[in-house]
Amino acid sequence: MSEVVEIVEMGPRDGLQNEKRIIPTAEKIALVDLLSRAGFRRIEVASFVSPKWVPQMADSAEVLAGITRRAGVRYAALTPNMKGYEGAKAAHADEVAIFASASEGFSKANLNCTIAESLERFKPVADAAKADGIPVRGYVSVVTDCPYDGRIAPSAVARVVADLRDMGCYEISLGDTIGQGRPETVDAMLTDVLNELPPDRLAGHYHDTAGRALANIDASLARGIRVFDAAVGGLGGCPYAPGAAGNVATEAVAAHLAALGYQTGLDMAVLAEAGALARNMRGA
Ligand code: HMG
Ligand code: MG
Repeated sequence: MSEVVEIVEMGPRDGLQNEKRIIPTAEKIALVDLLSRAGFRRIEVASFVSPKWVPQMADSAEVLAGITRRAGVRYAALTPNMKGYEGAKAAHADEVAIFASASEGFSKANLNCTIAESLERFKPVADAAKADGIPVRGYVSVVTDCPYDGRIAPSAVARVVADLRDMGCYEISLGDTIGQGRPETVDAMLTDVLNELPPDRLAGHYHDTAGRALANIDASLARGIRVFDAAVGGLGGCPYAPGAAGNVATEAVAAHLAALGYQTGLDMAVLAEAGALARNMRGA
C-alpha cells in the first residue's frame, strides 16, 4: 500500500479571510458542506479574531452552527486569545489553533503584540483547551521570509516551535505566509525545527505567491513531513501580510501527491466542484 499524506483544508478560513466582498454566511456553509464530502479529516472553517481586524470572519459562530457535520471530520477555528477561545468553544469547534510568528514585524502587524506577548496570550488558551479536551494546533508564520523583517533565521522558527510544543500543541504548521520560500530555505528551516519536533508532528503551510509551493512541499516530503495545508481554488492570503497571495491549491497538491504515488484519500471530482465554487465566491 502506498504511503498516506494528509491535506488539511484551509479554504473556508485562510482562503476566504482576505476576500473584499463580505461573503454571505450561507455561501460559506455551502462550501464547507461540499468540502465535507471530499474526504478531508480536518477543515479549518472559522476564525474567532477581532471583527475589526478581519471582518470576513465575523460570522464564524454562524458558520459553525450552520454546517452539516460529517462524522470523522474535525472542524477547526483560529483563536488568538481567550475571547476567541470562548467563542470557538461555544460554537463547538472540534479543534482550535493558536498562531504565532517567527518575526517581530509580522507579530506586531498580525496580532498587535510582540512574539513573547502573543505566547503569553496563547498559554491560557492552550491550558483551557486541554482542560476541555479540545485539541490545539499551532502555527508559526513567516518561517522563511517576512514582509517586514526580511529573511528569517531558522533558529527563530525553531524557538517558537519549541514554545508552542511546550504549550501542548499536537501539531505545528509551518507557514510560508508570503510564499517566498525556496526548497533550500525551507530545508534549512526544517533542519533547525526538526531538532525540536519530529516530522510526524509538523505540517507545511505554503502559500503559492511565487509558484514554488509544490517544490517546497517536495523539500518537506524529503524531510518526512506528511501533512500539508492547502485551500481549494488556491484562494487566500493574509490581510496583514502584504504580497501574500493564495494558499497552494488543494487540487494541485492532491494531483501532485498522487503523481508521486502518495494517497490522500480525497475525491478529485468533489474537489474540482469545490474549487469551482470557491473561485465563484471571489469578489470581483
Ligand atoms: P488588539 O486591538 O490589540 O486587541 O488586537 P484588544 O485586546 O486591545 O481588543 C481590541 C478590540 O477587539 C476589543 O473590542 C476586543 O473586545 C476585541 P472593542 O472594545 O474595541 O469593541 N477583541 C476580539 N473580538 C473578537 N474576537 C476576539 C477578540 N479579541 C479582542 N478574539 C487581536 C489583538 C489579536 C484581537 C487582533 O490583532 C486580531 O484579531 N488579529 C487577528 C489577525 C488575523 O486574523 N490574521 C489572519 C489569520 S493568521 C494567518 O492567516 C496566518 C496563517 O494562515 C499561517 C500563515 O500563512 O503563516 C495561520
Ligand atoms: Mg496562511
